[in-house]
Amino acid sequence: MSSAAHPDSAASAVHPPSAETIARAHVDAAKYEAMYKASITDSAGFWGEQGKRIDWIKPYTQVRDVDFTLGQVKINWYADGTLNVAANCIDRHLATRADQTAIIWEPDDPKDPAKHITYRELHAETCKMANVLKSLGVKKGDRVVIYLPMIPEAAYAMLACARIGAIHSVVFAGFSPDALGARVNGCDAKVVITSDGAPRGGRVTKLKDNVNQALLHDTTDVKCLIVRRTGQQIAFRQGLDYWYHEEAAKVPADCPAEEMNAEDPLFILYTSGSTGQPKGVVHTSGGYLVYAAMTHQITFDYHEGDIYWCTADVGWVTGHSYIVYGPLANGATTLMFEGVPTFPDASRFWQVCEKHKVTQFYTAPTAIRALMGQGTEWVTKCDLSSLRLLGTVGEPINPEAWNWYDSVVGKGKCPIVDTWWQTETGGHLITPLPGAHPTKPGAAQKPFFGVQPVVLEPTTGAEIEGNGVEGVLAIKDSWPGQMRTVWGDHDRFEKTYFSDYKGYYFSGDGCRRDKDGDYWITGRVDDVINVSGHRMGTAEVESALVAHAKVAEAAVVGYPHDIKGQGIYCYVTLMNGEEPSEDLRKELRNWVRTEIGPIASPDVIQWAPGLPKTRSGKIMRRILRKIAENDFGALGDTSTLADPSVVDDLIKNRSE
Ligand code: WT7
Repeated sequence: MSSAAHPDSAASAVHPPSAETIARAHVDAAKYEAMYKASITDSAGFWGEQGKRIDWIKPYTQVRDVDFTLGQVKINWYADGTLNVAANCIDRHLATRADQTAIIWEPDDPKDPAKHITYRELHAETCKMANVLKSLGVKKGDRVVIYLPMIPEAAYAMLACARIGAIHSVVFAGFSPDALGARVNGCDAKVVITSDGAPRGGRVTKLKDNVNQALLHDTTDVKCLIVRRTGQQIAFRQGLDYWYHEEAAKVPADCPAEEMNAEDPLFILYTSGSTGQPKGVVHTSGGYLVYAAMTHQITFDYHEGDIYWCTADVGWVTGHSYIVYGPLANGATTLMFEGVPTFPDASRFWQVCEKHKVTQFYTAPTAIRALMGQGTEWVTKCDLSSLRLLGTVGEPINPEAWNWYDSVVGKGKCPIVDTWWQTETGGHLITPLPGAHPTKPGAAQKPFFGVQPVVLEPTTGAEIEGNGVEGVLAIKDSWPGQMRTVWGDHDRFEKTYFSDYKGYYFSGDGCRRDKDGDYWITGRVDDVINVSGHRMGTAEVESALVAHAKVAEAAVVGYPHDIKGQGIYCYVTLMNGEEPSEDLRKELRNWVRTEIGPIASPDVIQWAPGLPKTRSGKIMRRILRKIAENDFGALGDTSTLADPSVVDDLIKNRSE
């Protein structure tokens, strides 16, 4: 991992906010202290007040009902209130900002025109999509999978589901047919919304073909709604497939918003864990929206008239909370970008910033590192004077990248918010606030309101008090944006997050708290790796590899990668009689890409005649990680291995 600076090293220079930043900010240092204190000492009072950010149909009287005890975990916020999330993101703005742009859409190819969609148009488009879904038989509580490129219809589809009370599950368009199929089945979706093709970086992915392949063996008659994006040929499944533009022409542009309970699920989003197949993270309506709206406003210091851009894809939680729900709940103008940072050239991000006069820009460290490697001219030739704040998310940012972002992109004038959070947390949990905290390159720094981070001793689980300490990161109490359960498997939810450290939500990350009480995330401590800000379970890649007929066994670990943060390192044991070859290596790499998707492409495949195992048969990943890191001096105790000579073989083969 391109590791964060050590908190007490010289690299951790402190960057105080400018007077201008402080003056404009919603929250300055004194206000942060006071509000933070209130949020902890009187959680119900604090969140009771914050809940008023959004419109309720029936106001809540109960603010929170939370229990983190293993065996009886429950998380409820605003439980007796009712609302509609789409009405909060659209309808309530119509009286004051119907003609304001809600979404700026920037297409993959800069030669194609951008779109500016007003709140009035967003209302009509969302209603039409909602009516089409209804006409296909979708009802409150039904699941709808959204497998789309970054086009406005992706936002319409999410909001349309919210409007009629259907639960959406967005699947990143880079996922393979198999991965898509598993998610469609996992949530038992009634409809998949897709497009003919998805242009990205000048290339086109055949999305509808992928859907057909994913549903090939489906017997439940999943319907498919197809948005026309590229106009390419598709294979139409008669009786099950519908063109969106044809259906939309038949329905009215008005659709009532369903009254939903605060704790009704809003969406399911599949994410990788340390074991097994991806799990469906469930977020509900009221608390999630309050938290997404509040963090969007305060972390990014959002003000009326700003043009806010988050470069994520709606296939990830970042896109849910900080492209769609948070910004739209706040009546913001949110930019949606279909393309990639390097197409047609490495200036694309900065040209989009210049073209649309972006004020807040939020991206991932991996993108910053990739662009940093292309040189500064790509940035400096663009007019970035509109930028006021920069943000990062997804993985620890190394100080070199932070400093480049700060000086070359932000010209030393834009505060950088390094936001630590997870699919499970719904919104930012640890981040500096622009007007309140002097920032440090590589540190996520301070808990957001209501969030109580604790550093635990990894083996005993005891809370480590004081500053200048290191351990695993857990959270002591709930916040409204917290996930509520794993779809269809509450037991797995409890086991994954509440069983290792009793009474806490365990994040899976390690962290340090420095002498000033600032938090530094040190990366995952479980078998999850972070590849270009994408979360990947090593177990998933392993199960894809062993599904290949020539593979007997596989072990996968992360290793430090300059651009991606972590790369995927695979140790593969072949079936008896199979010979290693370059061709087979290529075949396995492609195999994993088709099983999961390009984001899971192995970076290194090392042939392993044997894997280091304990006498009870458990693979010692610690050793495999060290070998992948080329760190043979620190292998530790190998005497408990069933066959210690395996390690020597692996080291010998390491450089081949
Ligand atoms: C994991 C969560 C939250 C949206 C994007 C990723 C890592 C995330 C940071 C950060 C250091 C970070 C953690 C976390 N992570 N943000 N600012 N600094 N690490 O969501 O796919 O659920 O992944 O990403 O390891 O556990 P996700």
